[in-house]
Amino acid sequence: MSVEINFPDRNLALELVRVTETAAVAASAWVGRGDKEAADDAAVKAMRKMINTVDMSGVIVIGEGEKDKAPMLHNGEEVGNGNGPACDVAVDPIDGTTLTSNGLNGAVSVIALAPRESMLNLKGAYYMNKIVTGPEAASVIDISVPAGENVRRVAKAKGLDVSEITVVVLDRPRHDELLKELRKAGARIRLIRDGDVAAAIETARAGTGIDILMGIGGTPEGVVTAAAMRALGGVIQGQLMPQNEKERAAVKEAGHDLSKIYLTNDLVASDDVFFSATGITDGELLRGVRHTAFGAISHSLVVRGRSKTVRIIETEHRFS
Ligand code: FBP
Repeated sequence: MSVEINFPDRNLALELVRVTETAAVAASAWVGRGDKEAADDAAVKAMRKMINTVDMSGVIVIGEGEKDKAPMLHNGEEVGNGNGPACDVAVDPIDGTTLTSNGLNGAVSVIALAPRESMLNLKGAYYMNKIVTGPEAASVIDISVPAGENVRRVAKAKGLDVSEITVVVLDRPRHDELLKELRKAGARIRLIRDGDVAAAIETARAGTGIDILMGIGGTPEGVVTAAAMRALGGVIQGQLMPQNEKERAAVKEAGHDLSKIYLTNDLVASDDVFFSATGITDGELLRGVRHTAFGAISHSLVVRGRSKTVRIIETEHRFS
């Protein structure tokens, strides 16, 4: 199903970049300080302040959690100033809280907007097996075939040798078998400590050296990735993958189908998306926030799904 509603022509992405910039700058004050809760708290508070200035009637679909556990930016919370289109909103004030607190590369702040009721709410499902790739190989991947076969398909679609394909994978023991398979196929691998949203976006950006993302990561991050892929012309396929019995029971209780393969369109059912990401720490995709004598410099990527326009924005923030 494709959702088509009257979404305005004006570019909300340019308003959204202020939201992720503010969150990233706030989080950057906590880089390397070993306190991920403080970093998250700073990013959430900053994001919340700015999000309510955006011309939209937004509802958070992917947020910081349920109301009782997350005081702000919780699922179901209304955001925006109410003077705009009805939107679903996905936020991740910091994807990579541990990266931020340890001063490691790859942490970003992200937000995505889509018409109301077009983002899937996979409540209760924390983990998802994912495969993500950019536009050139979007039509050839299939999460239900072996990893090596996907690598061969992507290599063929890109006119490259398998040995020239780089797959990014979260560095987790649960991926031992996947890594064996990928190595057997002859692909190159980049292991990351955290932050699979930025890594997924890298698959759709030329020059990052990343071709595919594979493996099990967060479900909310999967929906955020789907919004970015719709805007960038890439694809994600995902399958819910509970990591223990309790989670499996919760997923079943919520009525989710463990055998279902979610396609990009299932996760975000509209091309009419707006997406913004700002680097907190340095990464292949974006530079992290730099502090200067006058304030800070941030680096963001903003995309509008309808036009597929990608803007890279460097902003000088003057604290005075
Ligand atoms: P947080 O910043 O919310 O901690 O998420 C980081 C992250 O690495 C995501 O990018 C990824 O999807 C998820 O955690 C993986 O979960 P886990 O760390 O439990 O394997």
